[in-house]
Amino acid sequence: MHMISRRQFLASAASCAAGAVLPLSTSISAFAGVPTVLRAEKRVIEVAGKAADIFGLTQPDGTHGLYLQAGDDFDVRLENHLDEPTLIHWHGLTSPYGQDGVPDLPQPLLQAGKSYDYRFPVDRGGTHFMHAHTLQEQRLLAAPLIVRDAAEASTDEQDVVVLLHDFSFKSPEELLSGLTGMSGGMAGHGGGHGGMAPDLNDIEYDAYLANDRTLDDPQSFRVERGGIVRLRLVNGAAGTAFWIDLGTLEGEAIAVDGNPVTPVTGRRFPLGMGQRIDIRLRLPRQQGAWPILALREGARERTGFYLATAEGALKRIAATGEEVPGPLDLVLEASLRAESPLDEVAADRSEQVPLGGSMNGYVWTLGGAAWGSHRVLEVGEGERMELVMRNESMMGHPMHLHGHRFQVVAIDGRRVSGALRDTVWVPPAREVTIAFDADNPGEWAFHCHHLYHMVAGMMTVVRYS
Ligand code: C2O
Ligand code: CU
Repeated sequence: MHMISRRQFLASAASCAAGAVLPLSTSISAFAGVPTVLRAEKRVIEVAGKAADIFGLTQPDGTHGLYLQAGDDFDVRLENHLDEPTLIHWHGLTSPYGQDGVPDLPQPLLQAGKSYDYRFPVDRGGTHFMHAHTLQEQRLLAAPLIVRDAAEASTDEQDVVVLLHDFSFKSPEELLSGLTGMSGGMAGHGGGHGGMAPDLNDIEYDAYLANDRTLDDPQSFRVERGGIVRLRLVNGAAGTAFWIDLGTLEGEAIAVDGNPVTPVTGRRFPLGMGQRIDIRLRLPRQQGAWPILALREGARERTGFYLATAEGALKRIAATGEEVPGPLDLVLEASLRAESPLDEVAADRSEQVPLGGSMNGYVWTLGGAAWGSHRVLEVGEGERMELVMRNESMMGHPMHLHGHRFQVVAIDGRRVSGALRDTVWVPPAREVTIAFDADNPGEWAFHCHHLYHMVAGMMTVVRYS
């Protein structure tokens, strides 16, 4: 699919011969310490008894992903060990413009065999992740990016980090052309029926993964009887929204997208693509094994993992359940309250952002007809900006803004002091208003975090200098 120039080919061949010592293409800050090396590289996992070639983001010691302390610098050398160009976005970190990892905003793709250095301060804790901002995201080029907060580190909570994903043996290019090639009558899922039923799940995947594993071979985290666990869950899937199901356990949502919220108790929590949720729970005092499931929205498929004590026996759970959970909704969202909300000031500017499109022809839009193609959202530095996102399509959209944290300030026009987030779910026929302060000048991607909706047009930029 991709073209590799002879020079790139030689570069990657040379780097293999030299035992993974890469020719470095970047300038290194004179004061830089030793950056953490992250390799975008190939991996092989087993899915449904078959070998699956995927990508990953791995440190030289084998750690998948990155774990920092709040107050540290994000000091990373990204090395491309793939044989094609890539670029990685640090989803949840508010990097300065230039280090955000979205192709051509403004950084060009990182060629095979080359590296980029990144360095900026990270002052807050949070559950985040990093992923290719290209179709390679579907090939599992995604990993946890966890920033622990020293104030929290003293508690005797056990962190359990799980990245959810969807997997297909087809290439993302094939999946995309399967979607864009659908004619109206074949769009399925009610797309051509004109009814009120929302469209769910436009891709049939081969598997749903929790830390690369299915329920046929799930991961089990060893926990203490009566212990306290902080689940840090990331929906890294390209096209699948999940309900997190705690089964017999009860938990409290304590943070969303890495931002603390007033705890909300429950057993089931929605998690759209790109979103994260931290759930604190206390385990029962007896021995046992408790499955934590991620149920595919509107379908029987599921994935998950176990929390198990030393003698807790795992009871096998099928990857397909009986129940069909409904579509993601805003019930939890409406109950979330930010621990430290934005200052209460009036918006300097408010923009209507209708979300449009359909399965028919697979075109997805921001701003609708009124905007024409590719209108940019111009902002003034220092302004309080509000975006009123009304979903006029039949699918839910996880809307993500780069470079900022925003607050959910209204749902269907009713004002709330909602969560701080970077990705918010907007269900069909609903309206979510977000506010943010324009305090990080640049040109920032603003898009739907459904990979194929983004590629099919549901993306623009927010710009100021
Ligand atoms: Cu998680 Cu624009 O991405
Ligand atoms: Cu979308």
